Amino acid sequence: MLACSLTAMASDDAKMDKFIDDLMSKMTLEEKLGQINLPPGGDIVTGDPQSSDIGAAIVKGQIGGIFNIKGADKAKALQELAVKKSRLGIPLLIGMDVIHGYETVFPIPLALAASWDTSAAETTARIAAIEASAAGINWTFSPMVDIARDPRWGRMSEGSGEDPFLGSRMAEAMVRGYQGKSMQGDTEIMACLKHFALYGAPDAGRDYSTVDMSRLRMFNEYLAPYRAAVNAGVGSVMSSFNVVDGIPATANKWLLTDLLRDYWGFKGFVVTDYGSIGEMQPHGMGDMQSNAAMALKSGTDMDMSSWAFVNTLAKSLQEGKVSMSDIDRAVRLILEAKYKLGLFKNPYKYNNVKREKTDIYTPEHKAEARRVAAKTFVLLKNEGNILPLQKKGKIALVGPLANTAINMVGSWAGAIAPEKYKSLLHGFQDAVGDKANIIYAKGCNVYADAKTEGNVGIWNKNIRDNRTEQELFDEAMKAAANADVIVAAMGELAESSGESSSRSELDLPETQKKLLAALVATGKPVVMLNFSGRSTVMTWENENVPAILNVWFGGSEAPDAIADVVFGDVNPSGKLPVSMPRNVGQVPVYYNHLNTGRPVDNPKGDFIKFKSNYFDVPNAPLYPFGYGLSYTSFSFSDFNLSSDKLSNDGTIRASVKVTNTGDREGAEVVQYYIRDMVGSISRPVKELKHFERVSLAPGESKTVSFDINVDDLKYYHPVDQFKSKSSALSSGSDIEYTAEPGEFQIMVGPDSENVQTLKFTLE
Ligand code: BGC
Repeated sequence: MLACSLTAMASDDAKMDKFIDDLMSKMTLEEKLGQINLPPGGDIVTGDPQSSDIGAAIVKGQIGGIFNIKGADKAKALQELAVKKSRLGIPLLIGMDVIHGYETVFPIPLALAASWDTSAAETTARIAAIEASAAGINWTFSPMVDIARDPRWGRMSEGSGEDPFLGSRMAEAMVRGYQGKSMQGDTEIMACLKHFALYGAPDAGRDYSTVDMSRLRMFNEYLAPYRAAVNAGVGSVMSSFNVVDGIPATANKWLLTDLLRDYWGFKGFVVTDYGSIGEMQPHGMGDMQSNAAMALKSGTDMDMSSWAFVNTLAKSLQEGKVSMSDIDRAVRLILEAKYKLGLFKNPYKYNNVKREKTDIYTPEHKAEARRVAAKTFVLLKNEGNILPLQKKGKIALVGPLANTAINMVGSWAGAIAPEKYKSLLHGFQDAVGDKANIIYAKGCNVYADAKTEGNVGIWNKNIRDNRTEQELFDEAMKAAANADVIVAAMGELAESSGESSSRSELDLPETQKKLLAALVATGKPVVMLNFSGRSTVMTWENENVPAILNVWFGGSEAPDAIADVVFGDVNPSGKLPVSMPRNVGQVPVYYNHLNTGRPVDNPKGDFIKFKSNYFDVPNAPLYPFGYGLSYTSFSFSDFNLSSDKLSNDGTIRASVKVTNTGDREGAEVVQYYIRDMVGSISRPVKELKHFERVSLAPGESKTVSFDINVDDLKYYHPVDQFKSKSSALSSGSDIEYTAEPGEFQIMVGPDSENVQTLKFTLE
């Protein structure tokens, strides 16, 4: 069976090779350079493709793909220009940042990771592909898998958080969702893994800033999710804006060729990030011509937005700075992608104008978005079981995020149709009907200072209320005085996170803090909803507000989903994919850190002189990675190992019984962590190795097992420093990926802090 399919694949490949050989033999140099040029929509975003500059360039064969245009008609008109009017009729790649949905918007990727539900990640990517392909898109710039440990960096919102294992599982699920079986179906589009690599580790959390990292940290902590997506068959990779080992990723041969293609076996193409060949100049790498040549030779195949390949490579070829085979490699990979998408067979495969009317923002897609969003909310605190609220009496809904539909979707939602979405107020009103009275007041703007608010994104400017701070405050206090319970919708604007949205402070803006403190001071029960695209600081809130639900940015259906959880129709089950710091000074704080030579036994305890700790704040984050409460409770019991010895080719089974000890149905995420007690290099205090979501009825138990084998214990380390000789200029010898015999701890629990521990030995 396997032999048959391998033969079929080989003959498909041979057919593709022959087709592309024939096509390339007819192409002029100009047409070849056109194929590796990817400009943004430019004047066709709002204008008519036929009469646009971009349209004219397509006809001349100067463009291989285009991105971020909306509408099936427009996509079809562009495809027609390429197919009917250009000399060789080569169809276009039509790309878009479909990051967490198209018109049906799902939770931001960070929130999606909080569901710890890989099937949700796959389904939401599938639906995004169904909708985007109905509008002519055949390529999405997703998944973004950059590990992020520094919440000052706004793009933490676009990835799966701090953990390589969780990030890997989400990444591969998303690739499967977008690409389907093999990109053959007309709803199966090409995914683009980004941003390769290490973009999530900029100095000081400032977007686009310097990244400098040891190889061991790269391999053990940052690279895994990229590799998982490559293994899942992702069709394309986008390089990152930052430097890696001092060389911009855009032109880093070690990264794009030695690692990605030669070591990992990636077969697709590499596209730059927006204008990043141009940005090599301020990085200090030289002029446009030499940068374009360097990018091509290092393994970049497509130039996004710099127009550097089309404008300079012919000259570089003449001057011997690049070779025809460098250019041909890149052109071939772009043509292969088009072939694999089926565009040569049917260039209009994704231009089914009818489907745009029937397949976008359907009731089924909305229902799924609502279901998934509710799974992503993390209940951080629920003193006295204030939540869920009953649908009765008078409920004050207060706060700057309470009545703004456009801010529910989060950043990077380029295809939204905000007129179709609800605000939270509307969601609450629909949920309670005539059973309860919702009294709304805005209370304050997100930032008191209009300039700061103006710096955030472009969509949010319409939500500013020009009444004075005092007027807004007084109105909220009046609403609160009239109510039995207060729900405070606080936090960031949708675009406070995302690209170019770094913050230096992570707590609520002053004006919101003042309002929240006054609401709490009324003595009435207060529930805080925290809207955020990153982990935020809620130290004061944790001390003073009885209930906190972290709702991230849940997408177009967030208001209904929040109402589902607040009023108890759905039991919250989200778990943090990032540690939540106590203050900015703790950043970066992450659970899988090394132990140091001077660890503290109790990371929440008092300061100890000459240990690795702060004298003004404990080491432990406010809320740990993996943490999240439920309206029910769970117990973990009977944790056991089938053996305390593991052989190199064997398996041992860890099992734990999880019981719903409360009185309502709920889901728990069982998390297994491993610690390597002795290694040839220092090892993390724990690393996530397995997780499973289980739904349990009241009183019900399930046993959750994890079969451990040697692969779960492997990591990257230098070959023995005493055996191999390293030169004075290299930091050590070669790196290998093996498990080392010795003692291990296996831990299980409902979060990364609250675990039970057993030991075993690898023989
Ligand atoms: C972002 C990418 C995005 C690209 C195209 C860049 O600014 O970094 O994530 O895919 O623009 O819109």
